[in-house]
Amino acid sequence: MRRQFTIFSIVTFILIMTAGFLFHSNFFWAFLLFGPLYLVGAIDMCSTQHSIIANWPIGGRFRYFMEVLRPKIYQYFVESDTDGAPISRIFRNVVYQRAKKALSSAPFGTQLDVYQVGYEWINHSIYPSSLQAIKPNDLRITIGGKDCAQPYNASIYNISAMSFGALSKNAVLALSQGAKLGAFSHNTGEGGLSPYHLQGGGDLVWQIGTGYFGCRDEEGNFSEKHFGHNANLPNVKMIELKLSQGAKPGHGGILPAGKNTPEIASIRGVKPGTTVYSPSNHSAFNNPEGLLKFVAKLRSLSGGKPTGFKLCIGYLNEFEDICKAMIKTGILPDFITIDGGEGGTGAAPLEFSNSVGTPLREGLIGATNLLTAYQLRDKLTVIASGKILTGFDIVKYIALGADACNTARGMMLALGCIQAMECNKNTCPTGVATQDSNLAAGLNVRDKHVRVANFHHQTIEAVAEIIAATGLTHTRDLRRHHIWRRLTPTSVQNYQEIFPYAKLL
Ligand SMILES: Cc1cc2nc3c(=O)[nH]c(=O)nc-3n(C[C@H](O)[C@H](O)[C@H](O)COP(=O)(O)O)c2cc1C
Repeated sequence: MRRQFTIFSIVTFILIMTAGFLFHSNFFWAFLLFGPLYLVGAIDMCSTQHSIIANWPIGGRFRYFMEVLRPKIYQYFVESDTDGAPISRIFRNVVYQRAKKALSSAPFGTQLDVYQVGYEWINHSIYPSSLQAIKPNDLRITIGGKDCAQPYNASIYNISAMSFGALSKNAVLALSQGAKLGAFSHNTGEGGLSPYHLQGGGDLVWQIGTGYFGCRDEEGNFSEKHFGHNANLPNVKMIELKLSQGAKPGHGGILPAGKNTPEIASIRGVKPGTTVYSPSNHSAFNNPEGLLKFVAKLRSLSGGKPTGFKLCIGYLNEFEDICKAMIKTGILPDFITIDGGEGGTGAAPLEFSNSVGTPLREGLIGATNLLTAYQLRDKLTVIASGKILTGFDIVKYIALGADACNTARGMMLALGCIQAMECNKNTCPTGVATQDSNLAAGLNVRDKHVRVANFHHQTIEAVAEIIAATGLTHTRDLRRHHIWRRLTPTSVQNYQEIFPYAKLL
């Protein structure tokens, strides 16, 4: 039985008894007073629409009541406590509405200040392409280079790495089922391949981090035997080796002790109830050639599935060394994921989230400039991640150099995340980022997996509409010169002018 139900029943019982005695043992009036309250609470607990109401019967309704009274009251009393939250209200609401299929248009005009320094836009053509010429389902790419035996046909927008451990079982299930429904991929995160990733039936990108969770030996080193089994499962479509993530590059992962349940510990091969730190570096290699040989090994052990690596750009010369090693060894990853310093996390030291790692724009431009200069860019796929939430974000980062984009927090919001900022405490009120089974039970997989697919579908539709307006027919036609940026109150430049492709010196 869910904890909330027990607490709720006890509270109502105490209220009825107290009222009964206050009315001189007249329990009829007490039941008349509090009986309906109990009924409403019981109905709330069965809510499939709102995790907050299901987890906090009756009390949770106040949040939505405030929302009705918006903008002022809701803004002051509900939003104000998340003012410093990483995803702003405008973009959070876009995700919510797309997930509920409620956003087909916006009223009254632009929500952004077009004269503010930093404002960005794309120009339209006098001769837009016909929308019929761009089917959202065609906005896909093939990932797999010369050494790949099983290329993967991917959406241009996919679920970024988030582990079972950071996320609840129901969240993982809903993401996996959503990915299946919407034909996009779901990255397992570094916490290993859980039964819930497989149960949902979606396409998976299996991520291997420095802890080698799910493919490690007793000493915590990489184990070919364990890796081979999972890597060859049919749902696993790609392998991603994690070097770093934008929110805490150079730091390694953190699984707080409260979230390290016996089930998670057995999937990861660690001790339950302890805080698990994955190391900041890999034990399987320690230089660019070693990295590429390890990528080749993972690809071969997986039967030739697309294999790549993810990193947040730090020293650009270290990335250049990897490019040189690609030329020297002839070993190429099938894809490289560039994560921005602004990327999300379940738990990270504050200084790392705020101030370590190159932001996505500069990281992506730096990396793709080098790949282009070494004539490697068209031999592999580049994926971008870091606060990519809208159709324009996708268009912009593809124009700057990526082929596809990933989102982590966009998908969390689609699952019902309210940015309570408690991912690291095991108390997430929406059941998204917690291992408390009572809270996780409030996240209704049947309802939420559809929202995940809706958010993806509506966002891709928005991309298709922008592409049509620009007179293009596919995201692969986007270039840096398509995106403009205000540099001062009276001057603008396009991204090709601001960040031209560089030649080797
Ligand atoms: C709850 C949570 C858990 C995450 N876990 C991982 C992980 O296991 N491995 C990883 O490479 N990145 C992880 N990330 C980072 C994302 O995959 C991604 O790089 C980053 O969040 C991109 O930013 P976005 O959230 O703005 O899309 C996690 C992010 C969140 C929010």
